[in-house]
Amino acid sequence: MNDFKERIAAELTAVRGRSLAYTDAEDDLLVRQHSPLMSPLVWDLAHVGNYEELWVLREAGGITPLRPEIDDLYDAFKHPRKNRPSLPILGPAEARRYIEGVRGRVLDVLDRLDPESPDPLHRDAFVFGLVIQHEHQHDETMLATWQLSGTAGLIRDGELPSGKPYGPEEVFVPAGPFTMGTDTLPWAYDNERSAHRVDLPAYWIDRLPVGNRAYADFVEDGGYDDPRWWNPQGWAWRRETGAFAPLFWTRDGDTWWRTRFGRPEPVPMDEPVQHVSWHEADAYARWAGKRLPTEAEWEKACGWNPEAERARKYPWGDDDPDPGLANLGHHAARPAPLGAYPAGASFYGVEQMIGDVWEWTSSEFLPYPGFRSFPYREYSEVFFGGDYRVLRGGSWAADPAAVRTTFRNWDHPIRRQIFTGFRCARSVSAERPEHR
Ligand SMILES: [Fe+2]
Repeated sequence: MNDFKERIAAELTAVRGRSLAYTDAEDDLLVRQHSPLMSPLVWDLAHVGNYEELWVLREAGGITPLRPEIDDLYDAFKHPRKNRPSLPILGPAEARRYIEGVRGRVLDVLDRLDPESPDPLHRDAFVFGLVIQHEHQHDETMLATWQLSGTAGLIRDGELPSGKPYGPEEVFVPAGPFTMGTDTLPWAYDNERSAHRVDLPAYWIDRLPVGNRAYADFVEDGGYDDPRWWNPQGWAWRRETGAFAPLFWTRDGDTWWRTRFGRPEPVPMDEPVQHVSWHEADAYARWAGKRLPTEAEWEKACGWNPEAERARKYPWGDDDPDPGLANLGHHAARPAPLGAYPAGASFYGVEQMIGDVWEWTSSEFLPYPGFRSFPYREYSEVFFGGDYRVLRGGSWAADPAAVRTTFRNWDHPIRRQIFTGFRCARSVSAERPEHR
């Protein structure tokens, strides 16, 4: 195998190691449903193998189906998450055997693959990028399931850089066009294409994500009890759920506590806030006299280099992420302190856009001009125009293989079991907020 294929084989091994680590637990934990929002962990495990079988073995490799009778059980579109525990899914031992059987044949397909083929599944090994990113995304979902289950485990205490939160609160992005999306990144998804020019008026954007200290100020200022800050759906959600702070927060006297992977700890005030819904982010921004950035504002602030007239793959440039630039890949099971990655700043000087927490934007999930669904409609197209908001930048739980400036994630505005935070923006015409 050449270097390119060796790298892909290494990525396949790495992501599988991750999935197996997240399902290295008692059977009971794996087959139980910990929340109606999530699948049993063992469903995710067999599903990533089934997806790999469908796309690499059958579609790209032309190999006869190994277990066609289970396809239906692992079709995410046929069975909503809340129904998955009642399906006759594979048990943990059988699921592990199945995915191993698939993987054994996947390397043969990789060996035979011609990355210069005109077939878009083969070209640049797109199909491998598809399954590697897909499995990492399920791994992040599995982490969210673990967190919801309250089970101890999967805490990793990898060292993070200390925070250096000094510097301006906001960064100015001058008016002008930039290139949004991509035509050239080989493993980009259909929803990131095509590259197109977007002309934006000037705006301000927070240099750092909103931190726990600032968010606690909003809570303590009665933010959750004041309908002025909430949009109507958000206020209805707030009343219905009784939400009073980010998910997993509790209060003891004067101290905010959180439970992180089964471990109770005081909320670290210097970290980006996480586990907030879009509605909470939107309400905070209004309270702060600001608003959420649009998806285009987020992407321009993250990747655009106006001097070179080109977009960077990451804020700092095109070099792969490393632990001095961004907090990714479950190195530590938490966001890094605010200001931990000055070297990871964008051209404009915006920090921590990649890694730490997914960032809510104000934008609905819509296709870019010239969108063409590939390789299947259910990846993106069926979600366009639904009740979703776009999230950007990836979290500490996301893998570098599945994060870049152009990467778009989306979820319902009420969701907060995912590793989400946000930063605020402000139109230049808007007055500078007084009270903060
Ligand atoms: Fe999936």
